[in-house]
Amino acid sequence: MGIGATTRDVAAGEIPTIGVGMLGYAFMGKAHTNAFKKIAYMTWPPPLVPRLVSIAGRNEEAVRNAAERYGYEHWTTDWHDLVADPAIGLFDNGGPNSLHAEPTIAAAEAGKHVICEKPLGRTADESYEIWQRVAATGVKHLCGFNYRFVPANRLAREMIEAGELGEIRHFRGRYLQDWGDDQTLDTWRFHSDEAGSGALGDLGAHVVDLARYLVGEFEAVSALVKTFLPGREVDDAIEAAVSFAGGAVGTVEATRLALGRRNALQWEINGSKASLAFDMERLNELQVFRADGDRARGFKTVLVSEADHPWWEFWWPPGHIIGWGETFVHEIHHLLRAIAEDGDVAPYGATFEDGYRAAEVCDAIVRSSESGAREQIAYRMT
Ligand SMILES: NC(=O)c1ccc[n+]([C@@H]2O[C@H](COP(=O)([O-])OP(=O)(O)OC[C@H]3O[C@@H](n4cnc5c(N)ncnc54)[C@H](O)[C@@H]3O)[C@@H](O)[C@H]2O)c1
Repeated sequence: MGIGATTRDVAAGEIPTIGVGMLGYAFMGKAHTNAFKKIAYMTWPPPLVPRLVSIAGRNEEAVRNAAERYGYEHWTTDWHDLVADPAIGLFDNGGPNSLHAEPTIAAAEAGKHVICEKPLGRTADESYEIWQRVAATGVKHLCGFNYRFVPANRLAREMIEAGELGEIRHFRGRYLQDWGDDQTLDTWRFHSDEAGSGALGDLGAHVVDLARYLVGEFEAVSALVKTFLPGREVDDAIEAAVSFAGGAVGTVEATRLALGRRNALQWEINGSKASLAFDMERLNELQVFRADGDRARGFKTVLVSEADHPWWEFWWPPGHIIGWGETFVHEIHHLLRAIAEDGDVAPYGATFEDGYRAAEVCDAIVRSSESGAREQIAYRMT
C-alpha cells in the first residue's frame, strides 16, 4: 500500500475538535504532546482533532517556554486552571505519581475525559480510589500503559486470542534500565512520597500490565524487592515468580540497576502450539516459533509493518519502520476514538480498572517480599 492510500477525503472543518489540557511538560508531557500533534495530520481523518488549549507546570518560565514550543494556547502554574477551563475536554496527566489522584479525579468530576500516566496511583488503595471516583463520572479513562500500543504486542494479543499459541504455559517478562545506578542523582522517582515505589511501579507495572494483556489475570506472586543503594527510599529491583488464573506460570523482573541495559523491555510466552518473543530494542519485530512448522528452523522474525498490521494504516509503506514515540500516537488515537464514538477503551486500551489491577499485583509483590510467603491476589470490584 502506498503512502496516502488510506487517507480519506475529509475537509478539516468536518471533524470536531477536542480541547486538551496537559499537566507536565517534561518527559511524558513532551511524548503526549508529540502524539496529539501527529494525530492531527498522520491519522487523517482523526476521530477528533486535538486542540492544544493549555499546559500546566510548576516553573513559570519553563512552562511558558513549553507552551510556546509545543504550541499550547495558554499555560499555567496551577493545574486547577485546567480543571476549570471549559475549553478543555480531555485532561492529560503527565505529572509525578503523587500528582495523579487529585487532578485526575477533579478533571473527571468536572466532566473531562482523562488520560493518566502509569502507575495509576502509588498503591492499590490509591489506584482503586482513582478508578472508582473517575468511573462514577462516566467519562472515558485511559491509563498510560503505552506498550499495549506497540504493533508487535497488539499482533501478539490477536494471535493469542485466535488460539494460535494453544495452552499458554509460560510468561517471562523483564524491564531493565541502568540510570538508577547514580548516587548523585535526585529525582521525584527516588522519593517514596512522590513515587510510591521504585523500579516496581516505574518499570515492573509495565511488565505486569503486558502480562495481563497477553496472558490474563495474575493469581499469586512470590517475590523479592531489593534496594541496593544506601539512603534510597524506594526499591531498585524486583524479582517475582508468578502464577496466572488461566494456569500459566512465569516471572516478572524490573530494575533500574542493570548496567548497560538502557531501556530493555523484553518478554517471551511459550504455549503448547507456539512461542512468541519481543524485545523493545527491536520494536518492529515479533519473534514467532510454531511447533507445527519445521522445528529445526527455530524462531522466525516477523517484521510487523505490513499494511494489515495494527495501526499501520497511519504510517509508511511496509518495512519503513516506526519507533517508541508512535506508541503514544496509537494510544491517544484509541482514546479519541472511544470518546468520539462513545466506544470502549477496554480491552485493547488500559482503563483505570487495569491501572488498579496492575497496582494490586504490585502491592502483592511488596507484601510477598516482606512476608517471605506466596501472596494470593484478591481484586476489589466496583
Ligand atoms: N508510559 C511510559 O512509558 C512512561 C515513561 C515515563 C514516565 N511515565 C510516567 O509519567 C509520569 C510523569 O513522568 P515523567 O517522566 O514525565 O516525569 P518528569 O519529571 O519528566 O515530568 C514531570 C512533570 O510534572 C510537572 N509537575 C510536577 N509537580 C507539579 C505540580 N505540582 N504542578 C504542575 N506540574 C507539576 C513537572 O513540572 C514536569 O513537567 C509518571 O507517572 C511516570 O511514571 C510513563
